[in-house]
Amino acid sequence: MFNPTIFINEAINKMKKEVNGKAIIAVSGGVDSTVAAKITYDALKDESLAIYVDTGLMRLNETENVRAILDKLGINYKIVDGQETFLSNLKDIEDPEIKRKVIGKTFIELFEIEARKFGAKFLIQGTIAPDWIESGGGLRDTIKSHHNVGGLPEKMGIKIYEPLRDLYKDEVRKLAEFYEIPSKRQPFPGPGLAVRIMGRITRERLDLLKRATDILERGLEREGIIPWQYFVVLLSDRSTGVHGDRRVYGNTVAIRCVDSIDGMTANFTQIPWDIIAGISREITNKIPEINRVVYDITDKPPATIEWE
Ligand code: XMP
Repeated sequence: MFNPTIFINEAINKMKKEVNGKAIIAVSGGVDSTVAAKITYDALKDESLAIYVDTGLMRLNETENVRAILDKLGINYKIVDGQETFLSNLKDIEDPEIKRKVIGKTFIELFEIEARKFGAKFLIQGTIAPDWIESGGGLRDTIKSHHNVGGLPEKMGIKIYEPLRDLYKDEVRKLAEFYEIPSKRQPFPGPGLAVRIMGRITRERLDLLKRATDILERGLEREGIIPWQYFVVLLSDRSTGVHGDRRVYGNTVAIRCVDSIDGMTANFTQIPWDIIAGISREITNKIPEINRVVYDITDKPPATIEWE
C-alpha cells in the first residue's frame, strides 16, 4: 500500500542530499507539478522557486485558482505575466503545429529569464512513470510536451531532478489529497485554449472561448456529470443566426466531451440531450456573439480528442 507520509519523508530527505544548489520548477496548475513543487519547497525552502507562467491561454480564473493553491501550500513562487508576449507571438498564426511550437518556445524564453535571475542550478520536473515508461511501440508521446523545458538544461548547464518519476497517477493523487489540493482535474493541454481556437487567436476570441468553456464546465458539474475531458472549441467558420428580427453572422462553437482511460483512445460521452440543450441555450443567451452550438459525436479514432 502506498503511504503518502513515508513517500514524502523519503523524497524530502533524498532531495536534500541530492539537490545541492538552487532549484526552479515550472508549475502549470496540474496535480503532478503542484505536488512536485510542494515537496521541493519542503526540502529546499527558499533555495527553491516555483514559476507559473500566465500565458493568457488558460481557462477563466485559472491563474487565480493556481495562486490560491500555491498560497495555501505556502511555497516560494512567482507568477509571470506572459499574456501580451504570447498574444503578440501568436498573432496571425493559424497552423496548429506552428501554434504549439510558438507557445513552447515563448514559454521556454520566459522561463529561462526567471531561471537565470534566480540562479537555478537544478530544474525540478513533475514527470511521473507513465510519462517515460515505454509502452508497446516505443517511448510514449508525452502529454507534457509543452512543459518539457527540455532544451534548457544543456543550454544553461543545469541538472534535471524528478522527485515523482517512479509514481503512477493514483499515487500522485493520494499525495495531492494529503496536501489537500484538488486531485482530480481533467487533463488540460499544455498549449491551453490555443488549440481550441480554430484559426487566429485574438484577445476577443479567447474571451469568447473562456466564457463558453466556463458555462459548459459549471453546467456539467452542476449536474454531477464529469466526463474524462469536457471542453468547448471555437470554430473559424461563422454561420447565420437571428437576433430578434435581425439576421446575424455569428460564431459557432463545438462541445467536446469524451471518456477515456489514458487519452490514447476515447469515446464521446452520451450526455442527456436536455442537459446539453440547457448548456447550449445558456451559451447563446449569455454570449450573443455565439449563435450556434454543435455537439461532437466522434470517437478517437478516427478523430483526436482536441480539434487541433
Ligand atoms: P489528442 O487530441 O491527441 O489528445 O487526442 C490526447 C490528450 O492529450 C492532450 N493534448 C495535449 N497535451 N500538449 C499537451 O500537453 C499538447 O500539445 C496536446 N495536444 C493534446 C489532450 O487534451 C488529450 O487529453
